[in-house]
Amino acid sequence: MKKELKDITNREDISLLVRTFYDKIRADQEIGFYFNEMINDWDEHLDKLTDFWEMNLFGNKFYKGNPLEAHVNVDKHFGGKIGPNEFGIWLNHWAQTLDELFEGENVDILKRRARKMGTFIYMGMFNSRS
Ligand code: HEM
Repeated sequence: MKKELKDITNREDISLLVRTFYDKIRADQEIGFYFNEMINDWDEHLDKLTDFWEMNLFGNKFYKGNPLEAHVNVDKHFGGKIGPNEFGIWLNHWAQTLDELFEGENVDILKRRARKMGTFIYMGMFNSRS
C-alpha cells in the first residue's frame, strides 16, 4: 500500500527536502562533481538553499544571494560546459525527491518554479559566455 504523504508546510519540511535532494546530487555520477568541487561548507550551503526555497514558497526574507551570478561563476570555473543535460539531471532529482517525500499543491509549485528558474539560469549562463 502506498504511504500517505503530506504537503510541504514549514521550514522543517523544506530542510528535509533540500538535504535529501543534495544527497542525491552529490552522489550523481554526471553532475555530483560540480557541487563537490565548488562547495566547501555544506552546512552553510544547505542552510542557504533552505532559506532560498522557504523564501520562494512562503516569502520569508532570509535568503541573500544572487543565483544567476553564482551559476555564471560555476560555469566559468568549469570552462563553460554546463548544458541542458546537466539541468535535466538536476530537475529530475528535484522532482523525484519531491515525489518521494511529499504530496500536494506545494510539490507542483516547487517543480514548476525550479523548471522556470533552470531556464532563466541557463539563458543567463549562455549569454555570459560571449
Ligand atoms: C535547474 C535549476 C537550478 C536551480 C533552481 C538552482 C538553484 C541554486 C541556488 C538557489 C543556489 C545558491 C546560489 C547562491 O546564493 O549562492 C545554487 C548554487 C549552486 N548551483 Fe544551482 N541550481 C540549478 C541548477 C544547477 C546546475 C545544473 C548546476 C551544475 C551542473 C548547479 C550548480 C550549483 C553550484 C555548484 C552551486 C554552488 C555555488 C557556490 O556556492 O559556489 N546548479 N543553485
